[in-house]
Amino acid sequence: MQTPQEKFPQLCCEQIKLLTGGKKLAYIGTYGCQQNVSDSEKLRGLLIEAGYEPTDDDSAADIVVINTCSVREHAEAKVFGIIGALSHKKKRQPDCVIAVCGCMTEREGAKQKLRASYPQVDIVFGPSELQRFPEYLYRHLSERERVFSAHTYAAAERPEIHEGLPAARDKSVSAFVSVMYGCDNFCSYCVVPYVRGRERSREPEAVLREVRGLAEAGYRDITLLGQNVNSYGKGLPDAVTFPELLRRVNEIPGDFRVRFMTSHPKDADGELFSAMAECDKVAACLHLPFQSGSTRVLEAMNRRYTREQYLEKVTAAREKIPGLVLTSDVIVGFPGETEADFEETLSLIEQVRFDALFTFIYSPRPGAPSYLTKATDAPETIQARFDRLLAAQNRISEELHAGYIGKTVRVLIDKEVGGAEYPFEGRTEGNRLVRCKTGEPGQFRDVTVGGATRWSLFE
Ligand code: SAH
Ligand code: SF4
Ligand code: F3S
Repeated sequence: MQTPQEKFPQLCCEQIKLLTGGKKLAYIGTYGCQQNVSDSEKLRGLLIEAGYEPTDDDSAADIVVINTCSVREHAEAKVFGIIGALSHKKKRQPDCVIAVCGCMTEREGAKQKLRASYPQVDIVFGPSELQRFPEYLYRHLSERERVFSAHTYAAAERPEIHEGLPAARDKSVSAFVSVMYGCDNFCSYCVVPYVRGRERSREPEAVLREVRGLAEAGYRDITLLGQNVNSYGKGLPDAVTFPELLRRVNEIPGDFRVRFMTSHPKDADGELFSAMAECDKVAACLHLPFQSGSTRVLEAMNRRYTREQYLEKVTAAREKIPGLVLTSDVIVGFPGETEADFEETLSLIEQVRFDALFTFIYSPRPGAPSYLTKATDAPETIQARFDRLLAAQNRISEELHAGYIGKTVRVLIDKEVGGAEYPFEGRTEGNRLVRCKTGEPGQFRDVTVGGATRWSLFE
C-alpha cells in the first residue's frame, strides 16, 4: 500500500501525460558513481510513467536530464561543457526541456552558475528529491517557469527516504539496490557529505522486498549500494547491522550473487568478514578504499585509521574469506603529501597486491575542509607520482590475472558483445571481466581461463 505522499509523484506523472499527450522522447545522461546510475534508473521509471519513451539520442529527445557528479573538478567541468552544448539544441527546439540534477546541484556555487550563465536549463533539483521531479516537470510544462529547487540539507537534517519510486533498470542481469544514502564521515578532501547530506538507511524490509523482487525477475547479480555500507542501520528503529542485512539477503531464494560497495576501512570488521565467508550468495570480493599508505596523510584526510590498521584488516579479511578479490581507491597529491608519503602508498600496494585499483589525482573541492590547503609539490611532480603508481598497479594486475590461466572460474554472462572469437562477456565472482566463446546472458558458466591481460581474462 502506498502512502498518499508516495502516490503524489505518480499523480503528477498522470498530469504530465495529459498535458503532453504522451509519445515524447526522454534522454538521461548519467555521470559519477553507481549511486547516480541507480538514481537515473528511478528518474527513467518516473519519465516512463509520465508517458515518455527512453532514447539514447539526445538530439531527438523532448526532455534531456543530466545527472551530475561533483567529486572532482574535472567531473563538473565535463558536465558544464555538456550543458553548454545543449544551448544549440534549445535554439533549434525551444520546447525541449533541459533538467539538471545530481550532486553538483547541491553545491551553491554550481547552482548559481547554472542559474546565471546557462539560461537553457529549465529545471534543477538535488539527489534527495527524485520524488519531486514529476512535480517540478509539471510546473515547468504548465507554467513555463524555470524551476530551481530551493532544497538545502541544512533545512532537512536527515531527509526522509522516499520509497516506492518505479525503477527502469539499465540492465537485465545485474542491478543496484541502495541500502543507505548520504555520508557522515567527512573525509577532509571529499564533497560527498555536503552534496548527499547526512547518512540515512532504508528499512531492512524495504531492501529485502526489492532484492526479492529482483531475484524473482531473474536478476543474477545484485550490488547493495551506500557511501559506507558498514554504517548501515544506524538510527533505524530496528537496529540491523550491515552484516545482519547481508545474512537476511542471503536467505532470499534464487540463484543470484550479492556484492556491496563501499566499505570504509575504519568500520570493516570481523563481523563483516564472517558474514561474507558464511553467506554463499555473497561474492568473495571487497572494495576497501585505502586512499593513502601514509598514516600522516591518512590523519590529515580524517580517515580515522592508520596504515597498520588498514593492513591488519586486509590480513583478517583474507584469513576469513578464501579467494578474496580485493580492490581499492587511492588519491595522489593530497596537500602536504611528500615523496616519502608517496613511497608509503607505493609500498602499500606492493604489499597488498590489489586485484584492481582506482587511482585519482587530488582535486580541491570548494566546501571540503582541505580546499584552501595548497599542494606542497608542483603538478608535474604529482603527475609523475601518479604515473609511477599506475605503472606499478598495472604490473600487479597483469601478474594476478596471469595467475588465472589454466584455472576454472564461475562466470555470470552479462551480455552478447559480438565479435568472432569471444562474442560473450561475463564477470567472475570477484568481478573480473571474462571474454567467453559461448554463453547465454543471465546464465552462470564454468569457464577455463586460456589467456589474460591486465584488464580481462579470456576463455
Ligand atoms: N564513499 C566512498 C567513495 C566515494 S568517492 C568511499 O569512501 O570509499 C570515490 C573515490 O573518489 C574516493 O574513494 C576517493 O578515492 C576519490 N575522491 C573523493 N574525493 C576526491 C577528491 N577531492 N580528489 C580526488 N579524488 C577524490
Ligand atoms: Fe567521501 Fe569519505 Fe564519505 Fe567516502 S567516506 S563519501 S570518501 S567523506
Ligand atoms: Fe559523484 Fe555524487 Fe557519486 S559526487 S561520485 S555522483 S555521490
